[in-house]
Amino acid sequence: MSRRTHSASPPPRSPKRAKIEHLTLDSFKNGVVLAPMVRSGALPTRLFALKHGATLVWGPETVDKAILHAERVVDPVTGVVSYNGKSRAIWTTHPVEKPYLIYQIGSADPELAVQAAKTVVNDISGVDLNCGCPKPFSTHAGMGAALLTNPDLLCSILTALREAMPPHITVTAKIRLLPSQEDTLKLVERIVNTGISALTVHCRTRNMRDRDRAMIERLRQIVDFVKGMGKDIAVIENGDCLGAEDAKRVREVTGAHSVMIARAAEANPTCFSSTPLVDLDKNLIPSYLRVARHLDNHWSLTKFCISQFKGPSVNSTKAEEKRVREAVIKARSFEDVTDIVGEWTGEQDFKEIVRVIEARTSREHSEVSTETDASVDCPSASSSSSQAETEVAGEYITPEGTQNPEPPGSGAPLASEVTRDIPAVISGELPLTPTPAPALTA
Ligand SMILES: Cc1cc2nc3c(=O)[nH]c(=O)nc-3n(C[C@H](O)[C@H](O)[C@H](O)COP(=O)(O)O)c2cc1C
Repeated sequence: MSRRTHSASPPPRSPKRAKIEHLTLDSFKNGVVLAPMVRSGALPTRLFALKHGATLVWGPETVDKAILHAERVVDPVTGVVSYNGKSRAIWTTHPVEKPYLIYQIGSADPELAVQAAKTVVNDISGVDLNCGCPKPFSTHAGMGAALLTNPDLLCSILTALREAMPPHITVTAKIRLLPSQEDTLKLVERIVNTGISALTVHCRTRNMRDRDRAMIERLRQIVDFVKGMGKDIAVIENGDCLGAEDAKRVREVTGAHSVMIARAAEANPTCFSSTPLVDLDKNLIPSYLRVARHLDNHWSLTKFCISQFKGPSVNSTKAEEKRVREAVIKARSFEDVTDIVGEWTGEQDFKEIVRVIEARTSREHSEVSTETDASVDCPSASSSSSQAETEVAGEYITPEGTQNPEPPGSGAPLASEVTRDIPAVISGELPLTPTPAPALTA
């Protein structure tokens, strides 16, 4: 893939975009949100999720130290922002997702967590602390689920983040259940008192596996408990939700304000819509490939994400589906899938995503006209949130930096800091990416 010169500063803001759009407590309510997912929560996946109704998106966990020395680089053509390490991008985002983007940190140190959050603060709307990852690489360093049994440290990180972040940047936490409900409530009380804006509860304990049913029935008491504390913050359910329709069931059972989806979104990032796409071989994969190439998303990451896609076939035949799947499996670069993509019209696909997301932005978020950047100006304003309807008419606004007709550039993630082993949905196929890690998720 061709490379182009990168500018170290963002493309100029148009007056239209010189606004502050920020989250409030309400932004975490009445929503169906994309879970943090290492590898699978790549930038194109987050964008498709937003296009199809995810109300917020969490980025994949990034360990605090990993981002500290990254160089922030903006692609002058697409506007993609990459935080590049020595040999690869650590984390990648695009300004269009910023009003909905929660950056998740893996940390066991308040100072490092604050430094990490400060590093990316201009590109995000909120910071989330991962307190649920049970994998040894996380827990051995005191991060992830290890924080569940070290509430002093857990709360000191949240307190430090809340103190250090400007008020318009939300601070949230994602935990797992503790084996005892009583201990869980005690922990929740401490966490909520740190001043967080929302709490996600993955309704499994640290020792439970994904295949174990999430214990969502335990959540109602937690939701009521937080309400009883007089806090107006959202409790977000996580675990076993299949999509927008299923989220209604989950909210009814749990009383949760919102629902977070991981694996169902990994299988179909359009599951946030009340009418998720079917026949993914025709309706999602070609477009995903085009957008990924346009944004210069790394090929192996793109291939991995597509390998996880799974959806019902309505009009596609088994043979058609197989042709697309096999083409992706065999391909070693974007060029190898030209046959199934057709024209490389990724710029148009991306513009359509931007159009839909920006049509939401103007409606759902408080906007305060200002000449200054969100990172240095912290006004308070109210906003309402609602389940996004994405098919909103609206004029496409060219995103910053997309006007330059240069060829696609570099700067996309080359691999994640941490990986996991999710069996490929294409049954019988080998995983498409190297170095899978143990099959445990946060
Ligand atoms: C591919 C993958 C990667 C994940 N990475 C993270 C992560 O970075 N941070 C985190 O808090 N949880 C992570 N998780 C856990 C999910 O966010 C979620 O808590 C879990 O999968 C349960 O939700 P589900 O039943 O909807 O899948 C990951 C899960 C998957 C499937």
